[in-house]
Amino acid sequence: MRENVTIIGAGNLTQSLLEGIGKSTRLYDINVVDIDRKKVSVLKKYNVKFHSQYTREISKSNVILLVTKPKDYVQVIKSIDPYVSNNTIVLSFMAGIKIKQIQELLTQKIIVVRCMTNLAISVGNAFLFYFVNKSIKSLPNKLNKFLSSFASIRRCHSENNIDKLTALYGSGPAYYVFFNNIVKNTFTQMGFSKKESELYTNSLMSGSTNLIASNDTQDLLKLIASKGGTTEAALSQLKKDKVDKSVNKAIKEAYERSKKILGK
Ligand SMILES: NC(=O)c1ccc[n+]([C@@H]2O[C@H](COP(=O)([O-])OP(=O)(O)OC[C@H]3O[C@@H](n4cnc5c(N)ncnc54)[C@H](OP(=O)(O)O)[C@@H]3O)[C@@H](O)[C@H]2O)c1
Repeated sequence: MRENVTIIGAGNLTQSLLEGIGKSTRLYDINVVDIDRKKVSVLKKYNVKFHSQYTREISKSNVILLVTKPKDYVQVIKSIDPYVSNNTIVLSFMAGIKIKQIQELLTQKIIVVRCMTNLAISVGNAFLFYFVNKSIKSLPNKLNKFLSSFASIRRCHSENNIDKLTALYGSGPAYYVFFNNIVKNTFTQMGFSKKESELYTNSLMSGSTNLIASNDTQDLLKLIASKGGTTEAALSQLKKDKVDKSVNKAIKEAYERSKKILGK
């Protein structure tokens, strides 16, 4: 019999997870619950069962993934509570919501796992970090197999590390895309067409990613920036403008937000 999994929320991260799961060779029966009926159309291509209401079907799943916004967590947990048994494991992807906050709202005393990943999970190239109480020596085999079928899983030894990874890794693609946009707009400002700017920027980014994968970054900088050359001029301006401090500060701001996600 195929394993049954329920995902609550059919938004951006769920669609990326389903894309990733779809690329794995293992097969699962997946229910997706989202109060927004219109989500049924975006899920059509994933071969999942869509529900716009919480149904008894959920109780067939031993694994429930919570992939809604943090502000909706109370409503979501109260809604799954009738369908949770003592065998259920809840995996929460909601930024900043602590395991304790979830457990307090559930009638049964069950295992709650906090997870973090990013949208690159869709291309099967992402880590999935998790934290679970120390008393749980390892994830149950079936859950481990499910997660490993579409992600590289890494255990965190404190819940605080999940908050750090939320800022560094969950939000991470946005920093990369932000930088990509700056470079792309500079191409356009210097007279290249929109199409050329996009093509050349994307080639630049993916080529550089490949270089980073097989070279030390300090060595790479030395190879590209020759003394008195054009790259050195650009890098020294970035240093003068303290861009490193600015990026550092931005990520720390995300970390602070993840610790106090609902303003508490
Ligand atoms: N997006 C990312 O890059 C990313 C990365 C790492 C972690 N995360 C975490 O993943 C979670 C989901 O993010 P997302 O970007 O996928 O959000 P999203 O696109 O807003 O998706 C959430 C979905 O859940 C629905 N929903 C709201 N209340 C519900 C309820 N009571 N029951 C069932 N469904 C409900 C929403 O419907 P409505 O739109 O009608 O409210 C929406 O369709 C967040 O907690 C975030 O911290 C996201």
